[in-house]
Amino acid sequence: MRWGCGAIKILIVNGGPHKGNTWLLTEEAKRFLTDIDGDIIFSEVHLSDIGLPFCTGCSSCFRRGHWTCPHSEKVQPVMDMIEDSDGVIFSVPCFQGHLPGILKNFTDHMAFMLHRPRYFTKKALVITTTGGVSARSTTKAMAAVLSGWGFNKCYQLPIMALSWNDYRPSAKDLKRTHDIAGKFYADISSGKLHVPGAGVLIPFNLFQAMTAAETDYPTEDNSFWPKYAGMRYAPGIPLTPGKKLLGWLIYQAGRRLLKSTTVTYRK
Ligand SMILES: Cc1cc2nc3c(=O)[nH]c(=O)nc-3n(C[C@H](O)[C@H](O)[C@H](O)COP(=O)(O)O)c2cc1C
Repeated sequence: MRWGCGAIKILIVNGGPHKGNTWLLTEEAKRFLTDIDGDIIFSEVHLSDIGLPFCTGCSSCFRRGHWTCPHSEKVQPVMDMIEDSDGVIFSVPCFQGHLPGILKNFTDHMAFMLHRPRYFTKKALVITTTGGVSARSTTKAMAAVLSGWGFNKCYQLPIMALSWNDYRPSAKDLKRTHDIAGKFYADISSGKLHVPGAGVLIPFNLFQAMTAAETDYPTEDNSFWPKYAGMRYAPGIPLTPGKKLLGWLIYQAGRRLLKSTTVTYRK
């Protein structure tokens, strides 16, 4: 249980370029959560306000550490806000069946986390509205990003708004919003940590194995993984015996791959 840890902290990330249909539904989720627990401490970040330039693809985050990103002073404060939260609500309008460019650009800056995940205890709720189609593929795309970052659980609310800028949530949509926000809250307040899926065990064990030996060009990955030596997933996160075995098998496969493949990050 999450006893004695103080008020729950929830960060809301607006991944769209304005406060539109998706933000309206996000505020409804926030209102509902406030009704359940008036002590929740909310914070907000609107990615369209932080002035984050496009990722230049320099790959310095992968090779030398994310703090060497030329845009680190824009990215790090948001990373700190996520770190400081118990749960994060991502407000994600569906643009072309996918994440809006502003959010995609932010996730590009966080892509190094596929090599070096964190946020193992965090829970997320992704809220998407769409005109007609692809709400589910949008929430799924964001959920996949979040599992790469290490998030422990991601709830998804894909909603067909049938509107450009004048969405009035139906009683059914409101009920779905309240139900999923309630589950998100119950999960956070329980303190329960979930067994990770196989898709999460693959990068964790593969990158750990691939960086266990000397490479011609040591990278930040080589400094990151030793603290997890012998662990098939992050400490404190439960693993079933089957998942432990799977993690070990992936690790062994990574060691074999290392022998037969030359990985270089030299530029
Ligand atoms: C650039 C852009 C792309 C869009 N792409 C889609 C789409 O692929 N499928 C769809 O059904 N609706 C699409 N829409 C409609 C929006 O998904 C819909 O109006 C949504 O509720 C907008 O949320 P927002 O008001 O929070 O931005 C698009 C709208 C815009 C502005």
